[in-house]
Amino acid sequence: MKILITAGPTREAIDPVRFLTNRSSGKMGYAIADAAVHAGHQVLLVSGPTDLDVPAGVDFIPVESAAEMYEVVARYLPGMGAAFFAAAVADFTPAEISSRKIKKSGEKMILELVKTRDILASARETISFRGFLVGFAAETENLEVNARAKLEAKGCDLIVANDVSRSDIGFDSHENEALLVFKDRTEVFKKAPKHDLAIYLISMLGD
Ligand code: CTP
Repeated sequence: MKILITAGPTREAIDPVRFLTNRSSGKMGYAIADAAVHAGHQVLLVSGPTDLDVPAGVDFIPVESAAEMYEVVARYLPGMGAAFFAAAVADFTPAEISSRKIKKSGEKMILELVKTRDILASARETISFRGFLVGFAAETENLEVNARAKLEAKGCDLIVANDVSRSDIGFDSHENEALLVFKDRTEVFKKAPKHDLAIYLISMLGD
């Protein structure tokens, strides 16, 4: 099967030397890419900047901003059988990118942000993707309720939900505990290396 995976953070430029980003390490998405290749799938990894090595055998397209990630996904998603959107895409981006380095003046500075396009929500609606669609949710409260709302709002088959208020799992950790929220049920995936969760997620696809 052909599988597209998004991973890592995005970088939203403010001026030539500054950007907005987040704490995503990319580990979960890269682990899924690795597990998918080992299971014999054809994998395209679309990733924001990370410190990780690209797994052997994976096709790789590096991106920086949410807008760039959207363009690459919109181009390649239609031919895919499954997609895992593990990237921590910025929800907001600066309304303007200053072409010059912004100088400090005064005691306050207000940065105007505008919403980015939701790549996951566009998969069904705009890109007309019909394959198996997996989203991720990082929550600090009401994990299952919020994850189920995302599942429905974004037309996913599965939301992998993490409690990011816990420091022992998620973000930079090698381990993850997740709620797997499907349309008809919820499964608990007990704390384990991200690689084990990746293998489990890929095993659901069959051959
Ligand atoms: N996502 C995306 N494009 C965006 C924002 C999010 O593709 N512009 C995807 C992420 O890759 C993830 C899922 O949407 O798979 C959940 O993102 P999250 O930020 O947790 O949820 P939001 O829907 O943005 O809601 P909120 O931030 O309000 O919790």
